[in-house]
Amino acid sequence: MTNLRSVKGCKDVLFDSALKIGHIVDTAKKQAFLRGCSEIFTPIMEYTEVFSRGLGDFSDIVHKEMYSFIDKGKHSLTLRPEFTAGIMRAVLTNGLQHSLPLKLFAWGPVFRRENPQAGRQRQFHQINVEFIGFKDYTSDVEIITLANEILQSLDITNYRLEINSLGCNQSRKNYQKALSDYFNDHKNLLSEISQIRLDTNPLRILDSKEESDISLVKNAPNLQDYYTNQAKEYFNQVLNALKTLKINHVVNPRIVRGLDYYSHTVFEFISSDLGAQSTLMAGGRYDGLAELMGGSPTPAIGFAGGIERLMMVYNQQIDKIKPVIIIPITDKEKQFALQTADIFRQNNIACSVETGNKMKDIMQKAVNKYESKYAIIIGEDEAAKNMYTLKNLDEFSQSLVNLNQMLEILKNESK
Ligand code: HAM
Repeated sequence: MTNLRSVKGCKDVLFDSALKIGHIVDTAKKQAFLRGCSEIFTPIMEYTEVFSRGLGDFSDIVHKEMYSFIDKGKHSLTLRPEFTAGIMRAVLTNGLQHSLPLKLFAWGPVFRRENPQAGRQRQFHQINVEFIGFKDYTSDVEIITLANEILQSLDITNYRLEINSLGCNQSRKNYQKALSDYFNDHKNLLSEISQIRLDTNPLRILDSKEESDISLVKNAPNLQDYYTNQAKEYFNQVLNALKTLKINHVVNPRIVRGLDYYSHTVFEFISSDLGAQSTLMAGGRYDGLAELMGGSPTPAIGFAGGIERLMMVYNQQIDKIKPVIIIPITDKEKQFALQTADIFRQNNIACSVETGNKMKDIMQKAVNKYESKYAIIIGEDEAAKNMYTLKNLDEFSQSLVNLNQMLEILKNESK
Protein backbone atom coordinates (compact mmCIF):
# COMPACT_ATOMS: atom_id res chain seq x y z
CA MET A 1 0.00 0.00 0.00
CA THR A 2 1.32 3.44 -0.87
CA ASN A 3 0.96 6.56 1.21
CA LEU A 4 0.48 8.68 -1.91
CA ARG A 5 -2.98 10.17 -2.38
CA SER A 6 -4.92 12.18 -4.92
CA VAL A 7 -5.12 15.97 -4.51
CA LYS A 8 -7.98 17.16 -2.28
CA GLY A 9 -11.14 17.67 -4.34
CA CYS A 10 -9.75 15.77 -7.37
CA LYS A 11 -11.27 12.36 -7.96
CA ASP A 12 -10.31 9.35 -10.04
CA VAL A 13 -13.15 8.39 -12.35
CA LEU A 14 -13.46 4.62 -12.33
CA PHE A 15 -15.23 2.18 -14.65
CA ASP A 16 -19.03 2.69 -14.39
CA SER A 17 -18.56 6.40 -13.60
CA ALA A 18 -16.36 6.76 -16.68
CA LEU A 19 -19.13 5.11 -18.73
CA LYS A 20 -21.60 7.62 -17.31
CA ILE A 21 -19.38 10.56 -18.25
CA GLY A 22 -19.05 9.18 -21.77
CA HIS A 23 -22.81 8.80 -22.05
CA ILE A 24 -23.54 12.31 -20.73
CA VAL A 25 -20.98 13.86 -23.10
CA ASP A 26 -22.28 11.88 -26.10
CA THR A 27 -25.88 12.83 -25.32
CA ALA A 28 -25.03 16.52 -24.93
CA LYS A 29 -22.88 16.51 -28.06
CA LYS A 30 -25.62 14.86 -30.10
CA GLN A 31 -28.15 17.49 -29.02
CA ALA A 32 -25.64 20.30 -29.70
CA PHE A 33 -24.83 18.91 -33.15
CA LEU A 34 -28.59 18.74 -33.90
CA ARG A 35 -28.51 22.52 -33.56
CA GLY A 36 -25.50 23.07 -35.81
CA CYS A 37 -22.66 23.07 -33.26
CA SER A 38 -19.08 22.06 -34.09
CA GLU A 39 -16.74 20.65 -31.48
CA ILE A 40 -13.77 22.64 -30.21
CA PHE A 41 -10.92 21.69 -27.85
CA THR A 42 -9.02 24.51 -26.21
CA PRO A 43 -5.97 24.12 -23.93
CA ILE A 44 -6.49 23.33 -20.26
CA MET A 45 -3.90 26.05 -19.45
CA GLU A 46 -4.21 29.67 -20.53
CA TYR A 47 -2.32 32.84 -19.68
CA THR A 48 -3.93 34.12 -16.47
CA GLU A 49 -5.05 37.33 -18.21
CA VAL A 50 -7.51 35.37 -20.33
CA PHE A 51 -9.56 34.75 -17.21
CA SER A 52 -8.80 37.86 -15.17
CA ARG A 53 -9.86 40.12 -18.05
CA GLY A 54 -12.83 38.01 -19.05
CA LEU A 55 -14.35 36.97 -15.74
CA GLY A 56 -13.44 40.12 -13.82
CA ASP A 57 -10.73 40.51 -11.15
CA PHE A 58 -13.36 40.68 -8.44
CA SER A 59 -15.37 37.62 -9.41
CA ASP A 60 -15.05 34.86 -6.81
CA ILE A 61 -13.38 32.62 -9.34
CA VAL A 62 -10.56 35.01 -10.24
CA HIS A 63 -10.27 36.47 -6.77
CA LYS A 64 -9.86 33.24 -4.83
CA GLU A 65 -10.49 30.04 -6.77
CA MET A 66 -8.01 29.91 -9.64
CA TYR A 67 -5.07 27.54 -9.82
CA SER A 68 -2.48 30.00 -11.11
CA PHE A 69 1.28 29.58 -11.12
CA ILE A 70 4.39 31.10 -12.64
CA ASP A 71 6.03 28.69 -15.06
CA LYS A 72 9.75 28.46 -15.77
CA GLY A 73 9.40 31.07 -18.52
CA LYS A 74 8.07 33.44 -15.81
CA HIS A 75 4.59 33.54 -17.34
CA SER A 76 1.54 33.48 -15.11
CA LEU A 77 -0.56 30.53 -16.24
CA THR A 78 -3.92 29.29 -14.98
CA LEU A 79 -5.70 25.95 -15.17
CA ARG A 80 -9.01 26.85 -16.77
CA PRO A 81 -11.78 27.45 -14.20
CA GLU A 82 -14.38 27.46 -17.03
CA PHE A 83 -14.56 27.31 -20.82
CA THR A 84 -16.09 30.58 -22.00
CA ALA A 85 -13.09 32.92 -21.72
CA GLY A 86 -10.73 30.34 -23.30
CA ILE A 87 -13.13 29.75 -26.18
CA MET A 88 -13.48 33.48 -26.80
CA ARG A 89 -9.67 33.76 -26.72
CA ALA A 90 -9.51 30.95 -29.32
CA VAL A 91 -12.04 32.77 -31.54
CA LEU A 92 -10.01 35.98 -31.36
CA THR A 93 -6.54 34.47 -31.81
CA ASN A 94 -7.53 32.12 -34.65
CA GLY A 95 -9.15 34.92 -36.66
CA LEU A 96 -12.53 33.23 -36.27
CA GLN A 97 -14.23 36.58 -35.79
CA HIS A 98 -14.40 36.62 -39.60
CA SER A 99 -16.28 33.31 -39.62
CA LEU A 100 -19.00 34.32 -37.18
CA PRO A 101 -21.60 33.35 -36.23
CA LEU A 102 -20.30 30.10 -34.70
CA LYS A 103 -21.93 27.48 -32.52
CA LEU A 104 -19.37 25.61 -30.45
CA PHE A 105 -19.51 22.55 -28.20
CA ALA A 106 -16.74 21.64 -25.77
CA TRP A 107 -16.27 19.41 -22.77
CA GLY A 108 -13.52 18.49 -20.36
CA PRO A 109 -11.98 19.10 -16.94
CA VAL A 110 -12.06 22.49 -15.20
CA PHE A 111 -10.41 23.55 -11.93
CA ARG A 112 -11.59 25.73 -9.05
CA ARG A 113 -10.15 25.88 -5.55
CA GLU A 114 -13.43 25.64 -3.69
CA ASN A 115 -14.20 23.75 -0.49
CA PRO A 116 -15.04 20.22 -1.61
CA GLN A 117 -18.46 18.84 -0.64
CA ALA A 118 -21.15 16.73 -2.30
CA GLY A 119 -21.46 18.07 -5.86
CA ARG A 120 -18.49 20.39 -5.50
CA GLN A 121 -14.96 19.38 -6.47
CA ARG A 122 -11.73 21.15 -7.26
CA GLN A 123 -11.30 19.28 -10.51
CA PHE A 124 -14.65 18.69 -12.15
CA HIS A 125 -15.94 18.33 -15.70
CA GLN A 126 -18.24 20.50 -17.77
CA ILE A 127 -20.14 20.20 -20.99
CA ASN A 128 -20.20 23.63 -22.54
CA VAL A 129 -21.97 25.31 -25.45
CA GLU A 130 -21.33 28.79 -26.86
CA PHE A 131 -23.25 30.57 -29.63
CA ILE A 132 -20.86 33.38 -30.64
CA GLY A 133 -21.94 36.18 -32.99
CA PHE A 134 -25.65 35.72 -32.26
CA LYS A 135 -27.60 38.72 -31.06
CA ASP A 136 -31.24 37.89 -31.68
CA TYR A 137 -33.43 36.77 -28.78
CA THR A 138 -34.08 33.51 -30.67
CA SER A 139 -30.51 32.40 -29.84
CA ASP A 140 -31.21 32.85 -26.11
CA VAL A 141 -34.23 30.62 -26.57
CA GLU A 142 -32.28 28.07 -28.64
CA ILE A 143 -29.56 27.89 -25.98
CA ILE A 144 -32.07 27.41 -23.16
CA THR A 145 -34.07 24.79 -25.06
CA LEU A 146 -30.81 22.98 -25.89
CA ALA A 147 -29.89 22.76 -22.19
CA ASN A 148 -33.44 21.59 -21.47
CA GLU A 149 -33.28 19.01 -24.26
CA ILE A 150 -30.02 17.59 -22.89
CA LEU A 151 -31.62 17.08 -19.47
CA GLN A 152 -34.67 15.46 -21.06
CA SER A 153 -32.52 13.16 -23.22
CA LEU A 154 -30.78 12.02 -20.04
CA ASP A 155 -34.20 11.25 -18.50
CA ILE A 156 -33.56 13.87 -15.81
CA THR A 157 -36.93 15.38 -14.95
CA ASN A 158 -36.91 16.69 -11.40
CA TYR A 159 -35.57 20.21 -12.04
CA ARG A 160 -36.70 23.77 -12.60
CA LEU A 161 -35.48 26.52 -14.88
CA GLU A 162 -34.90 29.88 -13.21
CA ILE A 163 -34.29 32.86 -15.43
CA ASN A 164 -33.52 36.54 -15.07
CA SER A 165 -32.30 39.46 -17.12
CA LEU A 166 -29.39 41.61 -16.01
CA GLY A 167 -30.44 44.19 -18.59
CA CYS A 168 -28.13 45.98 -21.00
CA ASN A 169 -24.96 47.79 -19.88
CA GLN A 170 -26.86 51.02 -19.32
CA SER A 171 -29.54 49.28 -17.20
CA ARG A 172 -26.84 47.62 -15.11
CA LYS A 173 -24.86 50.81 -14.60
CA ASN A 174 -27.97 52.65 -13.37
CA TYR A 175 -28.89 49.74 -11.13
CA GLN A 176 -25.42 49.29 -9.68
CA LYS A 177 -25.41 52.94 -8.68
CA ALA A 178 -28.80 52.60 -6.94
CA LEU A 179 -27.70 49.39 -5.25
CA SER A 180 -24.41 50.86 -4.02
CA ASP A 181 -26.25 53.89 -2.60
CA TYR A 182 -28.73 51.63 -0.80
CA PHE A 183 -26.14 49.26 0.69
CA ASN A 184 -23.82 52.14 1.58
CA ASP A 185 -26.64 53.59 3.67
CA HIS A 186 -26.72 50.28 5.62
CA LYS A 187 -23.06 49.37 5.36
CA ASN A 188 -22.56 48.56 9.04
CA LEU A 189 -25.33 45.90 8.86
CA LEU A 190 -23.68 44.04 5.98
CA SER A 191 -21.55 40.91 6.48
CA GLU A 192 -17.81 41.31 6.16
CA ILE A 193 -17.68 39.68 2.73
CA SER A 194 -20.55 41.85 1.45
CA GLN A 195 -18.80 44.99 2.67
CA ILE A 196 -15.89 44.04 0.41
CA ARG A 197 -18.27 43.28 -2.47
CA LEU A 198 -19.89 46.66 -2.04
CA ASP A 199 -16.73 48.20 -3.45
CA THR A 200 -16.01 45.54 -6.04
CA ASN A 201 -19.27 44.01 -7.33
CA PRO A 202 -22.38 45.05 -5.34
CA LEU A 203 -24.60 42.82 -7.51
CA ARG A 204 -23.05 39.79 -5.80
CA ILE A 205 -24.50 40.88 -2.44
CA LEU A 206 -27.89 39.89 -3.87
CA ASP A 207 -27.08 36.18 -3.82
CA SER A 208 -25.39 36.31 -0.41
CA LYS A 209 -26.27 33.43 1.92
CA GLU A 210 -25.15 35.39 5.03
CA GLU A 211 -27.93 35.83 7.63
CA SER A 212 -27.13 39.50 8.17
CA ASP A 213 -27.44 40.30 4.44
CA ILE A 214 -30.65 38.45 3.68
CA SER A 215 -33.12 40.91 5.25
CA LEU A 216 -31.26 43.89 3.77
CA VAL A 217 -31.39 42.25 0.34
CA LYS A 218 -35.19 41.83 0.68
CA ASN A 219 -35.69 45.58 0.63
CA ALA A 220 -32.97 46.39 -1.88
CA PRO A 221 -33.90 48.15 -5.15
CA ASN A 222 -35.07 45.84 -7.95
CA LEU A 223 -33.06 45.50 -11.11
CA GLN A 224 -36.29 45.31 -13.13
CA ASP A 225 -37.08 48.91 -12.23
CA TYR A 226 -33.85 49.99 -13.94
CA TYR A 227 -34.23 48.14 -17.27
CA THR A 228 -34.15 50.35 -20.33
CA ASN A 229 -37.16 49.86 -22.66
CA GLN A 230 -34.96 47.89 -25.01
CA ALA A 231 -33.73 45.52 -22.28
CA LYS A 232 -37.31 45.02 -21.07
CA GLU A 233 -38.52 44.27 -24.59
CA TYR A 234 -35.64 41.80 -25.18
CA PHE A 235 -36.40 39.87 -21.99
CA ASN A 236 -40.12 39.78 -22.76
CA GLN A 237 -39.43 38.27 -26.17
CA VAL A 238 -37.35 35.52 -24.56
CA LEU A 239 -40.04 34.81 -21.94
CA ASN A 240 -42.86 34.79 -24.52
CA ALA A 241 -41.00 32.36 -26.76
CA LEU A 242 -40.33 30.04 -23.81
CA LYS A 243 -44.05 30.13 -23.04
CA THR A 244 -44.95 29.35 -26.66
CA LEU A 245 -42.51 26.43 -26.64
CA LYS A 246 -44.00 25.24 -23.32
CA ILE A 247 -40.66 25.39 -21.48
CA ASN A 248 -41.59 25.77 -17.81
CA HIS A 249 -39.64 28.53 -16.12
CA VAL A 250 -39.76 30.93 -13.20
CA VAL A 251 -38.36 34.42 -13.24
CA ASN A 252 -36.00 34.78 -10.28
CA PRO A 253 -34.86 38.40 -9.94
CA ARG A 254 -32.11 37.31 -7.53
CA ILE A 255 -30.12 35.36 -10.12
CA VAL A 256 -27.10 37.54 -10.83
CA ARG A 257 -24.43 34.90 -11.69
CA GLY A 258 -20.92 35.23 -10.39
CA LEU A 259 -19.03 36.36 -13.47
CA ASP A 260 -18.62 39.91 -14.74
CA TYR A 261 -19.17 39.09 -18.38
CA TYR A 262 -22.94 38.53 -18.24
CA SER A 263 -25.65 40.89 -19.49
CA HIS A 264 -29.32 40.42 -20.49
CA THR A 265 -30.52 36.80 -20.13
CA VAL A 266 -29.06 34.63 -17.35
CA PHE A 267 -30.46 31.28 -16.30
CA GLU A 268 -29.95 28.23 -14.09
CA PHE A 269 -31.35 24.70 -14.24
CA ILE A 270 -31.73 23.58 -10.63
CA SER A 271 -32.26 20.01 -9.47
CA SER A 272 -34.82 19.29 -6.76
CA ASP A 273 -32.95 16.09 -5.88
CA LEU A 274 -29.64 17.62 -4.76
CA GLY A 275 -28.61 19.47 -1.61
CA ALA A 276 -26.78 22.79 -1.47
CA GLN A 277 -24.94 22.32 -4.78
CA SER A 278 -28.03 21.82 -6.91
CA THR A 279 -27.38 23.87 -10.07
CA LEU A 280 -27.00 21.38 -12.90
CA MET A 281 -26.46 23.82 -15.76
CA ALA A 282 -26.12 27.57 -15.93
CA GLY A 283 -25.29 30.30 -18.37
CA GLY A 284 -26.30 33.50 -20.04
CA ARG A 285 -25.58 36.21 -22.56
CA TYR A 286 -22.15 37.83 -22.54
CA ASP A 287 -22.14 40.47 -25.27
CA GLY A 288 -19.27 42.43 -23.69
CA LEU A 289 -16.69 39.64 -23.32
CA ALA A 290 -15.00 39.90 -26.74
CA GLU A 291 -14.34 43.60 -26.16
CA LEU A 292 -13.02 42.99 -22.63
CA MET A 293 -10.52 40.64 -24.25
CA GLY A 294 -9.40 43.14 -26.89
CA GLY A 295 -11.69 42.06 -29.76
CA SER A 296 -14.48 43.93 -31.51
CA PRO A 297 -17.98 43.88 -29.99
CA THR A 298 -19.43 40.38 -30.43
CA PRO A 299 -22.79 39.28 -29.06
CA ALA A 300 -22.77 35.76 -27.58
CA ILE A 301 -24.62 33.41 -25.29
CA GLY A 302 -23.84 30.02 -23.79
CA PHE A 303 -24.08 27.66 -20.85
CA ALA A 304 -22.18 24.94 -19.04
CA GLY A 305 -23.38 21.83 -17.23
CA GLY A 306 -21.51 20.23 -14.36
CA ILE A 307 -20.98 16.60 -15.38
CA GLU A 308 -20.48 15.35 -11.79
CA ARG A 309 -23.79 16.91 -10.75
CA LEU A 310 -25.54 15.45 -13.80
CA MET A 311 -24.09 12.06 -12.83
CA MET A 312 -25.60 12.42 -9.36
CA VAL A 313 -29.12 12.69 -10.80
CA TYR A 314 -28.68 10.34 -13.75
CA ASN A 315 -30.03 7.03 -12.55
CA GLN A 316 -30.16 4.87 -15.67
CA GLN A 317 -28.04 1.77 -16.06
CA ILE A 318 -25.64 2.08 -19.00
CA ASP A 319 -25.16 -1.04 -21.15
CA LYS A 320 -21.55 -2.04 -21.08
CA ILE A 321 -19.62 -4.26 -23.43
CA LYS A 322 -19.19 -7.73 -21.90
CA PRO A 323 -16.26 -9.37 -23.66
CA VAL A 324 -16.03 -13.09 -24.28
CA ILE A 325 -13.29 -14.55 -22.08
CA ILE A 326 -10.76 -16.75 -23.84
CA ILE A 327 -8.77 -19.02 -21.54
CA PRO A 328 -5.83 -21.10 -22.78
CA ILE A 329 -5.32 -23.94 -20.28
CA THR A 330 -1.54 -24.30 -20.68
CA ASP A 331 1.28 -22.32 -22.25
CA LYS A 332 1.01 -24.40 -25.40
CA GLU A 333 -2.44 -23.02 -26.26
CA LYS A 334 -1.59 -19.36 -25.70
CA GLN A 335 -0.77 -18.57 -29.32
CA PHE A 336 -3.88 -20.36 -30.54
CA ALA A 337 -5.85 -18.23 -28.05
CA LEU A 338 -4.26 -15.03 -29.39
CA GLN A 339 -5.11 -16.04 -32.97
CA THR A 340 -8.69 -16.75 -31.96
CA ALA A 341 -8.94 -13.36 -30.26
CA ASP A 342 -7.73 -11.73 -33.49
CA ILE A 343 -10.46 -13.46 -35.49
CA PHE A 344 -13.08 -12.38 -32.93
CA ARG A 345 -12.10 -8.76 -33.17
CA GLN A 346 -12.13 -8.88 -36.97
CA ASN A 347 -15.72 -10.06 -36.56
CA ASN A 348 -16.51 -7.23 -34.13
CA ILE A 349 -16.81 -9.54 -31.14
CA ALA A 350 -15.30 -8.13 -27.95
CA CYS A 351 -13.01 -10.57 -26.18
CA SER A 352 -10.20 -10.76 -23.68
CA VAL A 353 -7.52 -13.45 -23.38
CA GLU A 354 -7.09 -14.25 -19.69
CA THR A 355 -4.22 -16.31 -18.36
CA GLY A 356 -3.15 -17.59 -14.97
CA ASN A 357 -2.75 -20.71 -12.91
CA LYS A 358 -6.20 -21.93 -12.03
CA MET A 359 -8.89 -21.88 -14.68
CA LYS A 360 -11.64 -21.59 -12.06
CA ASP A 361 -10.04 -18.48 -10.50
CA ILE A 362 -9.43 -16.84 -13.87
CA MET A 363 -13.02 -17.45 -14.83
CA GLN A 364 -14.43 -16.15 -11.54
CA LYS A 365 -12.34 -12.96 -11.68
CA ALA A 366 -13.19 -12.33 -15.31
CA VAL A 367 -16.88 -12.86 -14.71
CA ASN A 368 -16.84 -10.48 -11.73
CA LYS A 369 -14.93 -7.85 -13.71
CA TYR A 370 -16.61 -8.10 -17.11
CA GLU A 371 -19.97 -9.75 -16.30
CA SER A 372 -19.25 -11.97 -19.32
CA LYS A 373 -21.84 -14.41 -20.58
CA TYR A 374 -19.42 -16.62 -22.53
CA ALA A 375 -16.03 -18.16 -21.86
CA ILE A 376 -14.00 -20.18 -24.34
CA ILE A 377 -11.67 -22.81 -23.01
CA ILE A 378 -8.81 -23.98 -25.16
CA GLY A 379 -7.01 -27.08 -23.90
CA GLU A 380 -4.62 -29.49 -25.59
CA ASP A 381 -7.45 -31.55 -27.11
CA GLU A 382 -9.32 -28.55 -28.44
CA ALA A 383 -6.19 -27.00 -29.99
CA ALA A 384 -5.27 -30.28 -31.67
CA LYS A 385 -8.72 -30.54 -33.27
CA ASN A 386 -9.13 -26.80 -33.99
CA MET A 387 -12.17 -26.89 -31.73
CA TYR A 388 -13.29 -24.86 -28.70
CA THR A 389 -15.19 -25.50 -25.51
CA LEU A 390 -17.78 -22.73 -25.38
CA LYS A 391 -19.22 -22.15 -21.90
CA ASN A 392 -22.47 -20.27 -21.41
CA LEU A 393 -21.86 -18.81 -17.94
CA ASP A 394 -25.46 -17.73 -17.43
CA GLU A 395 -26.88 -21.16 -18.13
CA PHE A 396 -23.96 -23.21 -16.76
CA SER A 397 -23.87 -25.18 -20.04
CA GLN A 398 -21.05 -25.97 -22.44
CA SER A 399 -20.51 -27.41 -25.91
CA LEU A 400 -17.65 -28.35 -28.19
CA VAL A 401 -17.80 -26.18 -31.33
CA ASN A 402 -15.69 -25.29 -34.35
CA LEU A 403 -14.78 -21.72 -35.26
CA ASN A 404 -17.72 -21.07 -37.59
CA GLN A 405 -20.27 -22.46 -35.15
CA MET A 406 -18.78 -20.35 -32.39
CA LEU A 407 -18.77 -17.16 -34.47
CA GLU A 408 -22.38 -17.78 -35.47
CA ILE A 409 -23.49 -18.10 -31.83
CA LEU A 410 -21.50 -15.09 -30.62
CA LYS A 411 -22.50 -12.84 -33.52
CA ASN A 412 -26.18 -13.63 -32.96
CA GLU A 413 -25.66 -12.84 -29.29
CA SER A 414 -24.19 -9.39 -29.97
CA LYS A 415 -27.02 -8.37 -32.36
P1 HAM B 1 -20.82 28.20 -13.71
O1 HAM B 1 -22.17 28.49 -13.15
O2 HAM B 1 -19.66 28.74 -13.00
O3 HAM B 1 -20.84 28.73 -15.21
O4 HAM B 1 -20.64 26.64 -13.85
C1 HAM B 1 -21.53 25.84 -14.63
C2 HAM B 1 -21.84 24.55 -13.90
O5 HAM B 1 -20.65 23.87 -13.53
C3 HAM B 1 -22.59 24.73 -12.58
O6 HAM B 1 -23.97 24.91 -12.80
C4 HAM B 1 -22.31 23.40 -11.89
O7 HAM B 1 -23.17 22.38 -12.40
C5 HAM B 1 -20.90 23.09 -12.35
N1 HAM B 1 -19.92 23.45 -11.30
C6 HAM B 1 -19.46 24.67 -10.98
N2 HAM B 1 -18.55 24.61 -9.98
C7 HAM B 1 -18.44 23.29 -9.68
C8 HAM B 1 -17.64 22.55 -8.73
N3 HAM B 1 -16.76 23.14 -7.93
N4 HAM B 1 -17.79 21.20 -8.67
C9 HAM B 1 -18.65 20.57 -9.50
N5 HAM B 1 -19.42 21.21 -10.41
C10 HAM B 1 -19.31 22.56 -10.50
C11 HAM B 1 -19.76 28.70 -16.03
O8 HAM B 1 -18.80 28.00 -15.88
C12 HAM B 1 -19.95 29.54 -17.28
N6 HAM B 1 -18.72 29.49 -18.05
C13 HAM B 1 -21.15 29.03 -18.07
C14 HAM B 1 -21.33 29.75 -19.38
C15 HAM B 1 -21.00 29.31 -20.59
N7 HAM B 1 -21.85 30.96 -19.48
C16 HAM B 1 -21.84 31.30 -20.79
N8 HAM B 1 -21.30 30.31 -21.46
